[in-house]
Order: sequence, then C-alpha cells, then structure tokens
Amino acid sequence: MPSLPPCAELHLHIEGTLEPDLVFTLAARNGITLPYADAADLAARYAFTDLQSFLDLYYATMDVLRTEEDFADMTRAYLRRAAAAGVRHAEIMMDPQAHLARGIPLKTCVDGVASALATSEAEFGISTLLIAAFLRDRPAAEALAVLRDLIAMKAPIVGIGLDSAEVGYPPSLFAEVYDVARAAGLRCVAHAGEEGPPSYVWEALDVLRVDRIDHGIRCLEDEALVERLVGERVPLTVCPLSNVRLRAVTGLADHPLPRMLERGLNVSVNSDDPAYFGGYLDDNFAAVEEVFGFGPADLALLASNSVRSAFLGQARRDLLL
Ligand code: HPA
Ligand code: ZN
Repeated sequence: MPSLPPCAELHLHIEGTLEPDLVFTLAARNGITLPYADAADLAARYAFTDLQSFLDLYYATMDVLRTEEDFADMTRAYLRRAAAAGVRHAEIMMDPQAHLARGIPLKTCVDGVASALATSEAEFGISTLLIAAFLRDRPAAEALAVLRDLIAMKAPIVGIGLDSAEVGYPPSLFAEVYDVARAAGLRCVAHAGEEGPPSYVWEALDVLRVDRIDHGIRCLEDEALVERLVGERVPLTVCPLSNVRLRAVTGLADHPLPRMLERGLNVSVNSDDPAYFGGYLDDNFAAVEEVFGFGPADLALLASNSVRSAFLGQARRDLLL
C-alpha cells in the first residue's frame, strides 16, 4: 500500500472508538456486570442490519463510561491508534445527550474527552478539535438546552453536529439549534444522506447552513444537489467501511466513492465508529485502494480534501498540505 499523505479525520464519533477490550476493562473498574461473556462475545454481536441495529448496541455499551478518567482513557486509546493510522488532525464528535440520559453530568464527559485532547499534539502528533453532536431522535428543545449549557460552561468545542437515527428526523427540526450555534461562533456539520433522502442534504445546506455534510452518499440520486455540492465545494465526510457494515451499500464494490470523485465532489475518507465497523482510517484507505484500485494521485486528493475541509487554523493547515 502506498504510504498515506498527511490526513485529517473529520467524521469520528469518540464513543464509536470504544473497543470490546476497553468495554470490559471499564466495566470491571466501575463494578458493572455486562450481558456478554467476554470481549469476543461482544464483538461477535457486531453484525448490523441497518443504522438502528448499530445504534442500539452503541448506546448500550457506552454505559461503561462513568468517570472523567473513562472518557479520557477511551479518547487516548483512539488517538494512539489514529496516530498509527497516519492521522495528523482529528475533529472528534461526542454525544453529550447519550451520557446525560444515563445521569452522567455534562462536565464529566466534556472534561474527560477534552483532557485527553489537550495533550494530543504533544503526545501523538495529532491536532484536535471537538464537536458536540445532538441526537436527532430526541427533541430539539433538549438539544437547545444542552447547547446553551455547553456555551455557558465555555466547553472547548469548535462546532456542533447532528447524528443518531436519521429517517423520520429531518434537519429542519433543528433550525433553531443551528441558529444559536452559529450566533455563538460555532461551526456546523450534520449527518445527512446516509440512510435519509437527498432532501435531508438540501435541508442541512439551506436550513442548517452547515459547513460540511457527514456521509451525504445519497446525493448522487439528485443531479441538482450534486451540482450545488460541487459548485460550493461542500465537504462530504464519507465513511466506506461504515456504509458497508450498516448496509447503506450492498458491498464496497458498489460504494459510490469513485463516482463521487468523478463528479468532482469534495469527499474525504473517514472511519465513523471504527471499533464497530471493522477498522480505523488506514483500514478504510486500504479497503478503497484494494477494491477501487486507487493510486497515489487519488490518495493525495482524498488527503488534501480532508485537510482543506478541516476547521483548522491556516498555519497548521499549511503544515499538513
Ligand atoms: N450515523 C448516525 N449516527 C451515529 C453514527 C452513524 O454512523 N455513529 C454514531 N452515531
Ligand atoms: Zn457518523
């Protein structure tokens, strides 16, 4: 495999980096009895049929995250593995509502993740930014209250995102949340067009006025949408192994990534929830290289798209390009 140019990972859920071994370590540390025999038994359940079947397990396993130290250990484990994968900059989403719903204070999860990010550049050579993602299958009023709390506590976030079950929860439900975030100087991203229709991508652009679309693979079903995305160079953070595991595509050979590149869309490759979907950023690159026969020029384009689409300062961006 040709070596990867410097890459940014822009679509990564920190709770989706919780490896089965760490689930068991944290469960033991917190006195939690898990309904799985061991890490291998848990990993054997990672056979998903759609987004919801994954989310059910994702929300269940994160129950082992109880203390700041737990959040920090999970984050450090991701950074260590991402450094080995060649990641030089990471924009990391976390799901505060998933923890608040379990009685974990906002400060515990934010401070835990942030404490690991604070030493990332020195420890792992990875610059980082944090994005608070809201769960679209919970009320927008709840998201708004959490956003106001994050702003009030001066949480070290660069932006907000929107994730969880997509179909039936269009972006427009969250218009006010995004207006408040933008007024507070936060950047805006949203999952759209993973399982949901192209109209959700239009809404994310027109109503939420996002800076990036997470996934967006269904945009190819709508020619006018493709033209809009190409014309505005809207970044699409594509996650090939995730799309295969959640059956958004029938197999990697049918993944739209090559067609998206041919159409001139601004796509990057990302790992989404690497502990659950069969691999980190290097695994995603290896898979698309093998299946699509991508060469050094394709890899260089995907890597530079990722760095150019990051919410990075100019100096760090120039260093990575
Ligand atoms: N899609 C939507 N929501 C998510 C995902 C995903 O792949 N991972 C974690 N939350
Ligand atoms: Zn995602």
